[in-house]
Amino acid sequence: MSPSGMPSIDLLSRQINAVLTDPATTHGLARSLRAAAKEIDLHRHHHASRRAWPNGRIDDKPAKVQIGGGAHRIDGFFNIDLVPPADLLWDIREGIPLQDDSTDEIFSEHFLEHIDYPRSAKHYAREAHRVLVRGGRIITGVPDAAFALSQYPDPVDDSDETIARWYTKRDCRADINTRLDLVNLVFRDQDDDPAYTPHLWAYDHEKLIQLFTEAGFTSVEPWTFDPTMANPKRRWGSVYVVATK
Ligand SMILES: C[S@@+](CC[C@H](N)C(=O)[O-])C[C@H]1O[C@@H](n2cnc3c(N)ncnc32)[C@H](O)[C@@H]1O
Repeated sequence: MSPSGMPSIDLLSRQINAVLTDPATTHGLARSLRAAAKEIDLHRHHHASRRAWPNGRIDDKPAKVQIGGGAHRIDGFFNIDLVPPADLLWDIREGIPLQDDSTDEIFSEHFLEHIDYPRSAKHYAREAHRVLVRGGRIITGVPDAAFALSQYPDPVDDSDETIARWYTKRDCRADINTRLDLVNLVFRDQDDDPAYTPHLWAYDHEKLIQLFTEAGFTSVEPWTFDPTMANPKRRWGSVYVVATK
């Protein structure tokens, strides 16, 4: 037990690792335990930062913030992500660690589809509205599910552009044989991947408008791709919007 009386995360982690190394562990249980082991790592990163900011708000008021940027850092932006090399390691499902009405701009691409909907996605949109100044903007890019679905009637072949641009490096490449496999990846990409978080919800332009409008934003418009800010490899097959508070 930890001092708070809660079961120890370290003990749980050791027990999970022991069960995972047992050859008798079934595939289904191992999948669930790998997901739990990954969440335990993220929980540790999050609470290491949370100890410095126990009320869940950092002191600084960065004007521009990138969320879920991974290795793609943007000059002049304060980067928040679950994992290094971010400026702050934070689990955004727990809220955005910024003060009310403190930030001019939030940028994220290929992040939103990795958090659960509706709970975390709606919480994130409301939190973005809370931390932005009046007139502040949040720019959001995601894989365009409408685009993937529109390609469904076409056959898949070796020169398929979607595979070439999105999936050539995937371990599962040999199992992507049909157009429906590509549709599945928009919804489930990186499922059971030891390093990356999976896709948990798919978005199109309409869904992004609905999400940010419901959170209180006054306008949600298409965003013109700017390669000085966005990751150039995300341009193809993504949908971006800019929502203004
Ligand atoms: C597919 S990567 C995209 C990275 C970058 N935006 C790009 O387009 O190259 C998704 C990123 O979201 C981050 N992420 C996923 N869930 C998160 C969460 N709950 N809180 C903070 N970051 C998260 C991951 O750690 C990862 O860096």
